[in-house]
Amino acid sequence: MKIAVYPGSFDPITNGHLDVIERAARLFNKVVVAVSRNPEKQHFFAFGERLEMIKLSVTHLKNVTVDSFDGLLVDYVRAKKARAIVRGLRAVSDFDYEFQMALTNRRMAPQIETVFLMTDYRYSYLSSSFVKQIADLGGDVSTFVPPAVARRLKKGAR
Ligand code: PNS
Repeated sequence: MKIAVYPGSFDPITNGHLDVIERAARLFNKVVVAVSRNPEKQHFFAFGERLEMIKLSVTHLKNVTVDSFDGLLVDYVRAKKARAIVRGLRAVSDFDYEFQMALTNRRMAPQIETVFLMTDYRYSYLSSSFVKQIADLGGDVSTFVPPAVARRLKKGAR
């Protein structure tokens, strides 16, 4: 059973994240999308909302579950009996941060592999921050995010 964990803030989930989840779901028997609780980080959406929006966006993927974690990612991955961490790469600018994180995690847990999946080129420019900014300024975000997120953003800020 090949299990992968796809961790992130998902504030909110975008079509780029969803593209990575769909790719991972084709490669692994089971994919756990793990939302970071990190209370020290300022999030736009409350933790429960981030989780709910992902759940509503992955209903078509039968081998994908949505969960949350706090503490060290590698401890969570071990607890899930997963061997891989999935991270999406959009452009070269993502690489420094991702490389640092992957090697730090490898140092702590050599048996866990980080697997990078490239998003479709259509999403290579997309970021949760821009989506929030566009929605905040009254723009239409429906081509950038799953319908559940577009609906939530239409309702306005919390
Ligand atoms: O979507 P993000 O914000 O880029 O996700 C970053 C995340 C949540 C994957 C990362 O911050 C993380 O793994 N946090 C858990 C704490 C941890 O394990 N830190 C050491 C990583 S080198």
